[in-house]
Amino acid sequence: MRIIVCKNYDELSEKAANIVASQLTLKPDSVLGLATGSTPLGTYKNLVKMYNEGEIDFSAVKTFNLDEYYPIKKDNSQSYDKFMKDNLFSGINIKPENTHIPDGETDNPTAECEAYEKAIKENGGIDLQILGIGQNGHIGFNEPDVNLNSFTHLTNLTENTIKANSRFFASSDEVPRQAITMGIASILKARKILLLASGANKSRVVGELLNDGINTSVPATLLKTHPDVVLICDEDAYSGSKLGVDIGGTNIKFAVIEGKNLLFKCKIKTPEKSDDIINAICDKTIELKKEYNIKSAGIGTPGTIKNGLVTADNLPFDDFPLEKVIAEKTGLYISVDNDANCAALGELIFGNTKDCEHIILVTIGTGIGGGIIMNRQICHSNNNMGEIGHFIIQSEKGRECTCGQKGCWEQYCSATALVKDAEKAAEKDTESLLYKRMRENGKMDGETFFKALDEGCKTAEKVYKHYIKYLARGIESLVNIFGPDAVVLAGGVTQQGDKLLKPLYAELKKDIRIEISSLQSDAGALGAAML
Ligand code: PGA
Repeated sequence: MRIIVCKNYDELSEKAANIVASQLTLKPDSVLGLATGSTPLGTYKNLVKMYNEGEIDFSAVKTFNLDEYYPIKKDNSQSYDKFMKDNLFSGINIKPENTHIPDGETDNPTAECEAYEKAIKENGGIDLQILGIGQNGHIGFNEPDVNLNSFTHLTNLTENTIKANSRFFASSDEVPRQAITMGIASILKARKILLLASGANKSRVVGELLNDGINTSVPATLLKTHPDVVLICDEDAYSGSKLGVDIGGTNIKFAVIEGKNLLFKCKIKTPEKSDDIINAICDKTIELKKEYNIKSAGIGTPGTIKNGLVTADNLPFDDFPLEKVIAEKTGLYISVDNDANCAALGELIFGNTKDCEHIILVTIGTGIGGGIIMNRQICHSNNNMGEIGHFIIQSEKGRECTCGQKGCWEQYCSATALVKDAEKAAEKDTESLLYKRMRENGKMDGETFFKALDEGCKTAEKVYKHYIKYLARGIESLVNIFGPDAVVLAGGVTQQGDKLLKPLYAELKKDIRIEISSLQSDAGALGAAML
C-alpha cells in the first residue's frame, strides 16, 4: 500500500482528483468505481472543475457505485443515486446510461445484486476504484463480521454505521437498515484502488488498517492483499505518532515524532548478533508503541537494500529481510531505507533546509556518505545510489580506495583522510607546531589538528587548504549534476562551523548554499520516522 499524507482535506481532494484525471488521460474509456459519503466530495468538486476547464473528458467513461441504501427511492434526498447526480454526474459530460448504481427501489434485491455483478464484469471490470473508509473499518457497506461476502449483496447496516450516517437524515430512525453493496471480492477485483480518509474521526481506523493484521473485523485490512492500493489521508486522519529507528554500528537511536514534534528520543548500544539487534529493536518498539500510540515506524540501516533485503558491511546483515521480520514481530507498518537517505530526509523536514525542495546531504566521517533528495523525495535505485564518497575526484594517480577504485572523494575529504594528511605533514615537518601537538597528544586526531591550525601553524594551514580545495571541487561536481537548493554538511569536521564554511565559500567557484547540519547524528532517526 502506498501512503500519501496530505496537509489537509483540500490537498487530499486535489491529489485524489489528479490520480483520477491521470487514469482518464491514460484510458479515456476507463471504468471507475465510485464512492459516496463526505470524503470524496472534494475530489468530485475538483473533477467537475477539471472537466469545466477542458482537462478531462467523461464521454467514454463508465461508472459503478459501491452501494445504495435499501430500500430507498431514487428521489430521496439521501439516496446515493441523488448524491451522485448532485455532486458529480450533473457537472460532467458522462452519459447517464454509462452510470450504474445499485437499485434501491427494486422488489428483488437478490436479482439486482446478481445483475449488478454481471454488469461490472461485462463492462470489463473496474479500472480505478475510489473508496472511503467507515469509522468501523467498512469499505462500501461491507461491515465488520466474521464472514464477509464476496460479491454484490444485500446487507444489514451495523448500529455504528447507522449512527455515523444519521447526520445526513432527520433522525437515526430514518436511516435505512439495509443496503446493497459490492462485496469484498468485487472491490478487490478493481485494478487500482484509491482509498481516502480524512479527519480525526478516522485516525483510529487508519491506525488499525496500517498496523493490524488482515482480519474481517476491520474489513479495510483486506485491501492489504491487493497489489495496487494508494491510501490518501490528511494529517488528522494519520495523526498518532511515528517511530524512527537509526541502526548504527555503535548505537541504535529511537525518535518518536507526532506531526513535526519530537516527543521522545533515546539510544541503546548496538548488540553484536543480528538476532540480538532485532530483539533489541522490537522490544523497544513494542514498549514505545504502547506508550505513544505509534502508527508506523521507519528504520534507517547502513548498507544496501535490494528487494527488501539488507546487506551491511559493518552489521551482521546479509540479504536480511529486516522490514518483514520487524513488521511481523511488532505488528507495525514498517519502512526501511538506507541510513544516509534517512538522515537526508531528516535534514529536509526538521533541519535548516525546511524551505528546500532538493538537497544533498554530505556526511563527513570515517568515509563520506550522503543522501540525495529531489522534489522532497529520497532518490532511490536498486544499485547503490548516493555513494557520493566514491565518485572519483582524481584521475589514475588518485589515492587507492577501500572500494577498489582510485581517487575516490572520501580518500581526500573524509575526517579519516584529513587526519591522515595531517599526520603525514607533521612527520615531514618535525619543526612544526602540528608535529609538536601530535607528540603531546600521542597521536594525530581531528582535535589536535584544529588546535595547531588555530594556533597559526603554517603546516596545518597547508593541509587544510588542500582539504578545503578538494571539498569544494566535490561539492561543485555534485551541484553540477543534481542542482540542489542546498548542500548540507554533517559529521565531526562540521563542528568547526565558520572555520569550515568561510574558507569553503572562498574556494567555491559556484554560488552554492551550504548549510551545516543542526541535527547531526539525530537526523537519521528523525528522517526514518518520516519515511
Ligand atoms: P464518509 O464515509 O466519507 O462520510 O466518512 C465513508 C464510509 O462510510 O465509507
